[in-house]
Amino acid sequence: MNEAQIGTALLAWYDGHARRLPWRVPPAERRAGVLPDPYRVWLSEVMLQQTTVAAVTGYFHRFTARWPTVEALAAAEDADVMAEWAGLGYYARARNLLKCARTVTDLGGFPDKAEGLRALPGIGAYTSAAVAAIAFDRAEPVVDGNVERVMARLYDIHTPLPAAKPELTARAAALTPDKRPGDHAQAVMDLGATICTPRSPACGICPLRAPCAARAAGTQGALPKKTPK
Ligand code: ADE
Repeated sequence: MNEAQIGTALLAWYDGHARRLPWRVPPAERRAGVLPDPYRVWLSEVMLQQTTVAAVTGYFHRFTARWPTVEALAAAEDADVMAEWAGLGYYARARNLLKCARTVTDLGGFPDKAEGLRALPGIGAYTSAAVAAIAFDRAEPVVDGNVERVMARLYDIHTPLPAAKPELTARAAALTPDKRPGDHAQAVMDLGATICTPRSPACGICPLRAPCAARAAGTQGALPKKTPK
């Protein structure tokens, strides 16, 4: 299977198996031209850094009920935002969240490309690519821990992390399609979260079992390798 065929198989799987997440626009709606609110995508991606979907969901609902727009969040009292964030941890994220909301409000809205997003407070390579792809359908490679694991297995890459990162990112970029890049990014992350899991991956039901090089070699359980700390 070439990269285009792998991308097609992944999108077909996502159309039937996308997780329903509170900040997500389902694939059927996206195919009809609906894109999510960049504020909700950004807020969810910042909350999801170092935190699970299960832990984030309640916080996401409370934040968006209290501050439905980036302008509303920008106008919030710092102490109210810190109190609402309590329990999520990594409090620098909450301070940067407010800084970013105020910058975006001054700009008149979110930048619609990764480069512009990357210049915002608290937004690194991952978050800028995720918001550009998911909220604006830009063909950016979105590489989190799930995606690294999927790429390491699909291409049977034995270089340990973090040294393997550039190669894994290049593989993810080569797979990113020009059509539906936002759904593609979410599909790879969902595959890593639900099927290509760290332990006991469900290779028997994986849409990429045919092209998966680790599956052919029997090495999936040992990948990705990590340099010992
Ligand atoms: N993990 C972090 N962001 C995600 C997303 N947009 N879809 C699936 N898993 C995620």
